[in-house]
Amino acid sequence: MASAGLSQDRSANERPRGPQGTASGPGRPERRRAFVARGLTKVYGKGEVAVHALRGVDLELFAGELAVLLGPSGSGKSTLVNIMGGLDVPTAGQVFFHDLELTAFDERALTAYRRENVGFVFQFYNLVPSLTARENVALITDIARNPLAPEEALGLVGLAERLDHFPAELSGGEQQRVAVARAIAKKPEVLLCDEPTGALDSKTGVLVLEAIERVNRELGTTTAMITHNAAIAEMADRVISLADGRIAGVRENATKRPARELAW
Ligand SMILES: Nc1ncnc2c1ncn2[C@@H]1O[C@H](COP(=O)(O)OP(=O)(O)O)[C@@H](O)[C@H]1O
Ligand SMILES: [Mg+2]
Repeated sequence: MASAGLSQDRSANERPRGPQGTASGPGRPERRRAFVARGLTKVYGKGEVAVHALRGVDLELFAGELAVLLGPSGSGKSTLVNIMGGLDVPTAGQVFFHDLELTAFDERALTAYRRENVGFVFQFYNLVPSLTARENVALITDIARNPLAPEEALGLVGLAERLDHFPAELSGGEQQRVAVARAIAKKPEVLLCDEPTGALDSKTGVLVLEAIERVNRELGTTTAMITHNAAIAEMADRVISLADGRIAGVRENATKRPARELAW
């Protein structure tokens, strides 16, 4: 039919191709890119002691997706995520967050970018020991523009019953879930998690992953999670593999596995 042909042509012609655009493929809805990285290189040190952490990384992250960055220790995962989060800068290459070029930002602009847009979760929870779960989250919500209430953020990670507990009164998995609540309470567009279950056993780690999964689903937070654990990659929309400072592969999970079914 002529009309079907026309609409196909039109969608092909109107599909933006630049870093700020969207991408689509057969049978797949158009996806908006939240991040585009081009030719990212990071060299630590100089001369004989130089370490090439990233060797020309091209990458896209789509708005609202849950991407897992999978790779062995030393493959450049943390370096890549730290650059996307504005905690580090590359030696060469570009990173765009929507139409903003992060690699053109100065220190001050990067700080503002992080504060406005990015929540971080690291392997170690970094909670303030003298503050309760609620107070740890309130540290962030007190200075955020349109935050969740601390109780709401802690409810989202399954800790509604632990609001007034201190970190020492919580398990490792519970502490990490407080850290997730703290990271997402300001409703950042992006959540970056660097080995969030690295210090946890499988059973408590899964509860943390369920919290991250729920935040991604319910708040639509674009999520990139680093792991060296292939089992965890099953819960991702897309799995981006790194090896030796390069992207070794990108795959889409046709059906993603619910975090609660994972074990390692
Ligand atoms: N601040 C730094 N100074 C020097 N070398 C670093 C620094 N950060 C990371 N590296 C090196 O860069 C490489 C990649 O590190 P990283 O990004 O932390 O990998 P991953 O997170 O995959 O384990 C490693 O060889 C690491 O030792
Ligand atoms: Mg790392």
